[in-house]
Amino acid sequence: MTTQRVFSGVQPTGNLHLGNYLGAIVNFVKLQETHNCIYCVVDLHAITVPVTVWGGPDELRRNTREVTAAFIAAGIDPNKHIIFNQSQVAEHAELAWVFNCVARLGWLNRMTQFKEKAGKDRENASIGLYDYPVLMASDILVYRATHVPVGEDQKQHLELTRDIAQKFNNDFAESIAAQGLGDSYFPMPEPVITGPATRVMSLRDGTKKMSKSDPSDYSRINLTDDADAIAQKIRKAKTDPEPLPSEEKGLETRPEADNLVGIYAALAGKPKTDVLAEFGGAQFSAFKSSLVDLAVEKLSPIAGEMKRLSADHGYVDSVLASGSDRARVIAAETMVGVKDIMGM
Ligand code: ADP
Ligand code: NA
Repeated sequence: MTTQRVFSGVQPTGNLHLGNYLGAIVNFVKLQETHNCIYCVVDLHAITVPVTVWGGPDELRRNTREVTAAFIAAGIDPNKHIIFNQSQVAEHAELAWVFNCVARLGWLNRMTQFKEKAGKDRENASIGLYDYPVLMASDILVYRATHVPVGEDQKQHLELTRDIAQKFNNDFAESIAAQGLGDSYFPMPEPVITGPATRVMSLRDGTKKMSKSDPSDYSRINLTDDADAIAQKIRKAKTDPEPLPSEEKGLETRPEADNLVGIYAALAGKPKTDVLAEFGGAQFSAFKSSLVDLAVEKLSPIAGEMKRLSADHGYVDSVLASGSDRARVIAAETMVGVKDIMGM
């Protein structure tokens, strides 16, 4: 058994999609073989947008169970690893306050995701939305996780996490040593960004990422979609009139084609070059048929299992309760150390 610990989270905001699956959950599943993993349904992050957007208590409860069901359906073993929801372990919010006092305003002002998510009406964004990256740093560091599988969109937040860890370690270096805790308390967590589909784009517009909040249902494949819906969405996906190129270079100026090839590669678990070796010269109609078959083969068992689990609240809730209990033990130990180090 290794001591390397993985932490990652997914927001319970509904419409879990192929981007979340290929950019995050597939890697969560893989990492189980080699690491101790903690996978979190980050409900405290979900509430950073207006309540009209996150949907209120019933919707949050439903979405929390849906993400939990997706984790289990995709193959994460809740007996070997930890699946839980963030709000049940108070130490996330507690450490976030400490980190609010470590992080600098200038660091947060540089976060591009806040600018995107806040949009034009910035004065009306919640303080939580602004502070989101600090809470994310605390999610990771409260478990002193060393590896964080996330999509490319989260890379900047992970860099901030490292900056916070480093500043804490520097600011309190003397005390950390005096407590007999070595020369640093928090590790520098590393991103785990693997595979060809760390950024899955919208099926309607190859320049926008596939997203839960896109108003067009045809822009994304949801993890709950049945075979017919998957087939329809792939057949309607935007493409250009050219056949597939036989080399990756030929995809450079063709974002929609590149996206579909990337999705195929990720689902098949092979590099894009192999996919192009097979389909180079083919028309999109033919390629899309193969993509439909592959996507249905890989995704419908997950949708089926999610459906079964959505009827079994008792089981899903028990996974979250036991996961929270196990997570809390680790998080509480980290907070004892933080308080000793800081004199609290
Ligand atoms: P969203 O970004 O859809 O609101 P989350 O913030 O909950 O969803 O993201 C959950 C995980 O899914 C993160 O690791 C994120 O990087 C990944 N992810 C989200 N959208 C995509 C995408 N289009 N392509 C690849 N990964 C994605
Ligand atoms: Na995201």
